[in-house]
Amino acid sequence: MAAKRRILIAGNWKMNGLKKDARSLAGALGTKMSKLKSKPEFEMLVCPPAALLGPVLDAVKGKGIAVGGQDCHANEGGAHTGDTSAALLKSMGCKYAIVGHSERRTDHAETDAMVKAKAEAAHKAGLSAIVCIGETLKQREAGRTKSTNKKQLAGSLPEGATARNTVIAYEPVWAIGTGKVATPAQAQEVHALIRAELAAAIGEAEAAKMRILYGGSMKPGNAAELLALPDVDGGLIGGASLTVADFWGIAQAV
Ligand code: 13P
Repeated sequence: MAAKRRILIAGNWKMNGLKKDARSLAGALGTKMSKLKSKPEFEMLVCPPAALLGPVLDAVKGKGIAVGGQDCHANEGGAHTGDTSAALLKSMGCKYAIVGHSERRTDHAETDAMVKAKAEAAHKAGLSAIVCIGETLKQREAGRTKSTNKKQLAGSLPEGATARNTVIAYEPVWAIGTGKVATPAQAQEVHALIRAELAAAIGEAEAAKMRILYGGSMKPGNAAELLALPDVDGGLIGGASLTVADFWGIAQAV
């Protein structure tokens, strides 16, 4: 029997939005959530830029929307100008921290070992880590999709990962912000591989409960078929998380 996993609809705003947008976007989502008659079948999460965490947390207070950081530092504190600690995210009221997004791996030369350390810092602070992995177009075309994802997962998976404290996000780099979405077959193939690798690493029972999100050009029009796949347990959504209509449209596809 397949384990029942609660779908996670997560918005990664990346470096977008101003204070006023944070309030209007997060506020409107909060209003929509509070109008639902019954507990939704999905969990909603928004990850704004660090400077907008305060206004977003205020806007969604009591509305059943979780808030997360887009990154955290591996250290608990200290001389790391411009960085954000997991403990600070937690103290603000965050529940999650995204770690190892491909944009951070590229822009900040983050390695698997660094991503793993960040995920462990998130756990230590009491946050769930959303650990991102995914192959580039070059790697896919060279037939290295499986080996790339296996290697990134093995290197980035935090010690002590459980279904409670860790979520995996498969984000094929070639699908991020490009409008090129993975086909259901492509997504399911990698998600199933990830679950099999997780089973080997943390045991079958825990792997069966762990959520694996798909990310890369998810939109209201393609969300339903992706979210219906057996090993896809939600979405990590960039562009389409920046408008209420699109983000809510994806949630409605659950
Ligand atoms: P897009 O949805 O804009 O392709 O971005 C996906 C992503 O990178 C989410 O983390």
